Amino acid sequence: MSKLVYIVDDEPSISKLLSYWVRDKWKYNIGIFTNAENMLAQLQDKPDLVLLDIMLPGIDGIETLKRIKQFDENLPVIMLSAQGNIEVAVESLKFGAYDYFPKPIEVQRLEPAIINAIKNYDLMRELENLRENVKHEYSFDNIISADNKMQEVFKYVNKVLNNDITVVIYGESGTGKELIARAIHYNGKRKDKQFIVINCASIPRELLESELFGHERGSFTGAHQRKIGKFELANGGTLFLDEVGELEMMLQAKILRVIQEKEFERVGGTELIKSDVRIISATNRDLKAAVENKEFREDLYYRLNSFPIYIPPLRHRKGDIIVLAQYFLDTFNKKLDKKIKGFSKRALKLIYDYSWPGNIREMENTIERCLILSENDVIDVVDLPPHLKTSESYGSEITGSLFSDDNIIPIEKLKAEAIKHALKVTKGNIVEAAKKLQLGRATVYRLMEKHNIEASTTEKSNGK
Ligand SMILES: Nc1ncnc2c1ncn2[C@@H]1O[C@H](COP(=O)(O)OP(=O)(O)OP(=O)(O)O)[C@@H](O)[C@H]1O
Ligand SMILES: [Mg+2]
Repeated sequence: MSKLVYIVDDEPSISKLLSYWVRDKWKYNIGIFTNAENMLAQLQDKPDLVLLDIMLPGIDGIETLKRIKQFDENLPVIMLSAQGNIEVAVESLKFGAYDYFPKPIEVQRLEPAIINAIKNYDLMRELENLRENVKHEYSFDNIISADNKMQEVFKYVNKVLNNDITVVIYGESGTGKELIARAIHYNGKRKDKQFIVINCASIPRELLESELFGHERGSFTGAHQRKIGKFELANGGTLFLDEVGELEMMLQAKILRVIQEKEFERVGGTELIKSDVRIISATNRDLKAAVENKEFREDLYYRLNSFPIYIPPLRHRKGDIIVLAQYFLDTFNKKLDKKIKGFSKRALKLIYDYSWPGNIREMENTIERCLILSENDVIDVVDLPPHLKTSESYGSEITGSLFSDDNIIPIEKLKAEAIKHALKVTKGNIVEAAKKLQLGRATVYRLMEKHNIEASTTEKSNGK
């Protein structure tokens, strides 16, 4: 992408010289300004560099520099100064200028400064993006929920972030167990170390042992090299034992020992390996019942189960269905580059009434499929998979405020409905509600105003 360089100087001859040169040499786009006001008004076009004269009519160079830094701290600014102004130029470094050059400008000296300033800025933005992405992907803001039952879950999750207590997450398939486990890791004190997942059900039992503990070379046929196991890899971090209910007895005993002693041997090895690992497990089975049936060791059960967290199935948190449908519609609109505006009244009713045995994962897949299939700008009944249409209530009376209008239900109205719900849950806290719904605060305020939603409709009013 071509870069954009702003040149601010009241002497046209200098701007001309610089612009010819920057444009010819690197094919950068140029913005030329004879005063700072006009340039400041164009900052939202995101220049990559500003070449700024110190002596300017109106707002002077130093003040302009300060304002640029308020807009974007990292945006590089190179000051250009007349001979008499060198002291001011030096001072500008204190206010965050990248560099300064006295006039007449020596182009050969300015050239490397320009290149480096822009490169530096690119790098900084890239880093910031990366950081934001990781933070965003695993932050709680990415777990969408407005239902009371899930707020309970979040309360428990908050209690285990900064300790090493062993957590088991219970929940049906697709309820978000792994998502919660990741959120615990990436928001807790081990976040800078690894989060390692092992699925105890999908790996054949002979392999699972060496996956978990590693093996030494030659310890069995086919073991050509030493292998480092997940317990060792997760040292300092978190090991997520997914589907822990499927572990066979022999491995249960070995895992119990690692939890107790914090050490183990690789398969076929004698060296004691020390590893400090936090264990989070997940299962869709009733572990207590498995203990009673003698399928799961009681001692391991008590070790793992120090802190159980139960995630309710989607059908028991109806409050989340609409919120999630809207969220996935937004998500896949972006991913698939579609512009679907919302759901038809009947389609949304079917989505709401369906029991979602595959929970959020099923919802995610269903909405994605709808978006792919839909040929209109609204998801209608024809776009839904057949099993949603045979749900009991199909054709029954459509009720509820959301369903009371004959038209399609645009995404905006869904959002408004979700906001109402979230405000109820957060007792009228708009900032919290916006966060839960992953909507911008400004959007929430706008929709509240447009749809006449009051923050203080709940028991605890917001100062009104
Ligand atoms: N509250 C939520 N908000 C947004 N996305 C969610 C939420 N809960 C789950 N998801 C998404 O649903 C999908 C399933 O979640 P996840 O894999 O965590 O479930 P699981 O309980 O581990 O399922 P399984 O038992 O099938 O392994 C994922 O893509 C996840 O990102
Ligand atoms: Mg899972």
